This record gives sequence, structure tokens and C-alpha cells, in this order.
Amino acid sequence: MRDYDAQPVGGIARRLAHILTARGIDPAAKLTEAAEPIPALQAAEARIPARYQAAVADHPAVVAWVHEVAQAGRPGPEGAPGIAQGRSLLIVGTTGTGKTHQAYGAVRSLLLAGVRLRWKAITAADLYAELRPRPGHDGERELMDLARCPLLIIDDLGAAKSSEWTEEITMRLVNRRYNEMLPTLVTTNLGMADLRQHIGDRVASRLTEMTDKVILDGPDRRRALAAKRRNAAAATPPAYTALAAPAAPTAVSAARRPNR
Ligand SMILES: Nc1ncnc2c1ncn2[C@@H]1O[C@H](COP(=O)(O)OP(=O)(O)OP(=O)(O)O)[C@@H](O)[C@H]1O
Ligand SMILES: [Mg+2]
Repeated sequence: MRDYDAQPVGGIARRLAHILTARGIDPAAKLTEAAEPIPALQAAEARIPARYQAAVADHPAVVAWVHEVAQAGRPGPEGAPGIAQGRSLLIVGTTGTGKTHQAYGAVRSLLLAGVRLRWKAITAADLYAELRPRPGHDGERELMDLARCPLLIIDDLGAAKSSEWTEEITMRLVNRRYNEMLPTLVTTNLGMADLRQHIGDRVASRLTEMTDKVILDGPDRRRALAAKRRNAAAATPPAYTALAAPAAPTAVSAARRPNR
């Protein structure tokens, strides 16, 4: 039988195996869909919400915290430092002062510094919504995942409606992280007195001990950004005004119109 004659399937398989072996390829090796390796930084950054993907932590206290956490990192299996125990931050400020920006900026800085980082972020409102008991959902496991995560952002603490149940959930989450001394970035619009009212005295007490307070003041950056955009638009006449009302065809252009 010549090579190009029709062959039974077994024959083709044998011949293919022969060709592969001759080329130094193991014919029995499984073909795997090897995923394109994504650098850790890219993968971790991809989880940052779009609005904060370029966030830079520029507040001196946040910069100092990033430095401290990066320094305290334990060397991991590939030599890169992993996050260890450390202090936490309570980032306080009124609406739009840049709390969430600083928190994600801090995560980005740690990633850029080469810290091997497992991190999660959740708003307090989403936390309670996610953990609400419902059939077929293991809220307990989710709570433990957040409680044990090496770095956690708890965004907007005190912004959700409180109840005995939310107090208990917050207490269990914060208490675990307090006990294990796991770095946590907490943002809130509330001062400590209001926060205590909202999340309970025992959580407030733990937060007071485990966090350094970062106060962001100044105006609402969102409104400032919107005003800047409005001013810029007012200063630049839109380029499309000439196109807005098409000119009536001139006698020449009408004369040049092709015959139908
Ligand atoms: N340091 C900064 N440099 C540039 N832009 C910033 C900075 N801080 C915040 N911003 C921008 O200002 C806006 C508001 O910031 P952010 O969402 O962090 O505010 P916030 O304090 O978390 O507000 P809220 O209390 O409503 O959650 C966003 O568009 C953000 O990208
Ligand atoms: Mg925010």
C-alpha cells in the first residue's frame, strides 16, 4: 500500500504515530489547550473595577501603609513577597472625596511593587446581600473566604441599612481579621461616633485598635470633575456646528448631480 492510498483508520493512526515519534513528539501525549499565561499583575488588575483601574494611591498615609505592607511581605514560593500580618486602614471622608480610589490605588501599588497578593473587595451593602440566607447558597463559606483573604477592601462600611443580623455579620468578619491581624482597607462616610451607632460598639472598638485613620477632605471630586468638563465644553465651540445644518445645494452642485 502506497502512502497516499486510502488506509483504514488504524493505519492512519499508526502512520501518524510513526511521523510524530520520528519528530521527537510523544504521540500518546494529550493535547492540552494551554492558556496563554497572563502575568499575575495583569490578572489581578483585571479584577479592579474599570473606574479605578488607573487609580493611584497618592495620600501620604496610604503610600506609607503600602510601603509597610510591602516590606513586611514574606517570601513566597517563587521568591516574590506575599502579604503578611499588618495594620489596616480606615479611610474616612464625605461623598466623592476619593476613598474607594485610594483603596484600589493601594492594591495597584502593592501589585506594582511585586507583592504576591490574594485580595478581595466588597461593599458592605453587597456583603449583606450576598450573605443573606437563601436555599442552595453557602453564605458561611463565603464569609470565611472574605474573613481569611490576605487583603480585603470593605468599601462603604455603614452605608447599608443596619440590623442585628448585619451587625453580627460585620462583627464575625471584622473579628476574624482582627484576631488574625490581616490587613484590611475599610472605607466609610461616617465618623467614629456614627459608625459605632451603625455597626455596633464591639466592631467599632476593634476597628479603632487595628486601623490607622486616613481622613480625606475636600470637595466631592465627582461634582468637581463634572464642572471641569462643563467649563471645558463651554470654552471650546463644538467642531460639528458647521455640519449640524446641511447647506442648501448650490446651483453648481445641483447641476453636477448625476442623472438617475
Ligand atoms: N486622587 C485622585 N486623583 C484623581 N481622581 C480621583 C482621585 N480620588 C478620586 N478620584 C476620582 O474622583 C471620583 C470619586 O472618587 P471615589 O469614588 O473614590 O470617591 P468616594 O470617596 O469613594 O465616594 P463615595 O463616598 O460616594 O463612595 C472618581 O471618579 C475617582 O476616579
Ligand atoms: Mg466609594
